[in-house]
Order: sequence, then C-alpha cells, then structure tokens
Amino acid sequence: MTTSALAGRHVLVTGGSSGIGKACADRYRSEGATVFVADLHPTSSDEIQLDVADPAAWAELAERLPALDVVHLNAGIATPGRALMAEGALPLSDVTDDAYRTIFGANVDGVFFGVRAVLPKMVEHGGGQILVTASMAGLGPIPGDPVYGATKHAVVGLVRSLGPSLDPYGVCISAICPGFVATPLVPEEFRGFIREMGMPVIEPERVAEAAMQALDARANGSQWIVWGDTIAQHQQPDFGLT
Ligand SMILES: NC(=O)c1ccc[n+]([C@@H]2O[C@H](COP(=O)([O-])OP(=O)(O)OC[C@H]3O[C@@H](n4cnc5c(N)ncnc54)[C@H](O)[C@@H]3O)[C@@H](O)[C@H]2O)c1
Repeated sequence: MTTSALAGRHVLVTGGSSGIGKACADRYRSEGATVFVADLHPTSSDEIQLDVADPAAWAELAERLPALDVVHLNAGIATPGRALMAEGALPLSDVTDDAYRTIFGANVDGVFFGVRAVLPKMVEHGGGQILVTASMAGLGPIPGDPVYGATKHAVVGLVRSLGPSLDPYGVCISAICPGFVATPLVPEEFRGFIREMGMPVIEPERVAEAAMQALDARANGSQWIVWGDTIAQHQQPDFGLT
C-alpha cells in the first residue's frame, strides 16, 4: 500500500466551491489532506468567504490558517458579462472599466496577493507547493475573450519568472493549463459549439488528476497542458536568465 504525499498535509484551494476547484478539493481530501476551501461565494459553512482580489483579506487568512503545505490558487472568471466561448471575437469597446478591473482582480491580483500572503509561513515551515490554475488561454490566443487571455498569460509569466527564485526556499510553484472544462465558466449551451470546432470539453476530475501529476512532478516554474486525454508538461523557450 502506498501513502499519498498529500496524506496529513494542509491544503488551501481558492475558488473551491465550484467546478475545477471543487473537483481538486475533493481529490486532495481523498488523498488524505486536510483541505481549506476559500471562495467569493461559499456553498457551506465549512468554506471560508474570501475575495482573492483583496490583499487585506489574504493577509488575515494567511495569519489565521495553519502553515500550508499546498496552496492551489484556482479562483478565476471570464470577462464579466461575456461567456468564455460565446461565438465571435469580443470587441474591446464592450469591456467596461469595471469588467476589466474585476477580471484582472480575480485572475491576476488573486494569484499575486495569494502567493505573497502565503509564502512567508510556507518558507518558515520548511517549504511547500503553490499550484496556479492558469489555462490554455495562457499559452495561446483566445479571440473570444482577449482580456481573459491577457490575465492567463500574466499568471503563466508570474509562475515561470518566480519559480527558479523559490528553489532555495523549498517552495515550488507551477501552473496547470486546461483547455475547455465542463464547469459553469463554460455554459452548457456553448459546449456543443466547442466540440463542433473539434475541441474537447473535459470533466473537472480530469483537471484534478493533472493537478496531482503537477504536484508529484514538483518542477518549479512549469506549466501543464490538460487537453482531452493529454496531460503533459509544456516546453517554452527561455532566454538563459533562469
Ligand atoms: N472551465 C474551463 O474551461 C477552464 C479552462 C481553463 C482554466 N480554467 C480556470 O479554472 C479556474 C476555475 O474555473 P472553473 O471553470 O472551475 O469555474 P467555476 O465558475 O466553476 O469556479 C470558479 C470559482 O471561483 C470563485 N471565484 C470567482 N471570483 C472569485 C474571487 N474574486 N475570489 C474568490 N473566489 C472567486 C467562484 O465563486 C467559483 O466558485 C479559473 O481560474 C478558470 O479561469 C477554466
């Protein structure tokens, strides 16, 4: 019998009340971890209410929780008012100031403030892992929501750039980059259209499997493609600055 590396570990999952985050939280629990779920819209009294875009709320949460072994920064949204794969390109004139700030708040600030808040205790505790749910939209273009694409490229850039500097502290940061996943972010009515375009729509549990593989690999700064049946480490050029 093998014991999971997560057995007895403390794990935090943001955006864990729905979709990919919920599937990952369930998987981590089944591996024996104690899982804290934090979400803007908690669905039970066991879950913590948190707006990941709020740095003060992050500081308070990091103080309150025990030292965390794994932090999965997963919360994220599409541009408000727009379904991720609504047909056609999104004209920038349709993106209000509020919508722009809100999506960058959740998808980029939420990751930056999260990493910054949890790192000190993690380092003091001897190390740990941070996993970010980015997207294939962080590795290639997504004309249907270019603002979403910009946020996901931003977090991939943060993970790639930060990774090597965390090695000496025993901390690994990596990103999973799923294609389309059957969650409320990709409404049912658009899933057929995505499949007609020849692209897979996978179940959130498959992303949880990818999360486990990324955690097992512990490759600092890495990105993991999750597309149909494929789970694979993505290779990008670097410029010798690592
Ligand atoms: N569904 C997909 O096709 C897909 C593909 C690639 C990446 N992703 C990414 O996966 C992550 C999870 O998305 P999902 O598909 O499970 O969607 P989802 O809507 O099912 O879940 C997102 C969760 O994040 C929470 N959330 C949103 N804003 C928040 C905030 N400011 N603070 C705290 N929590 C907040 C929501 O309440 C929700 O519970 C996102 O980062 C998303 O961009 C999704």
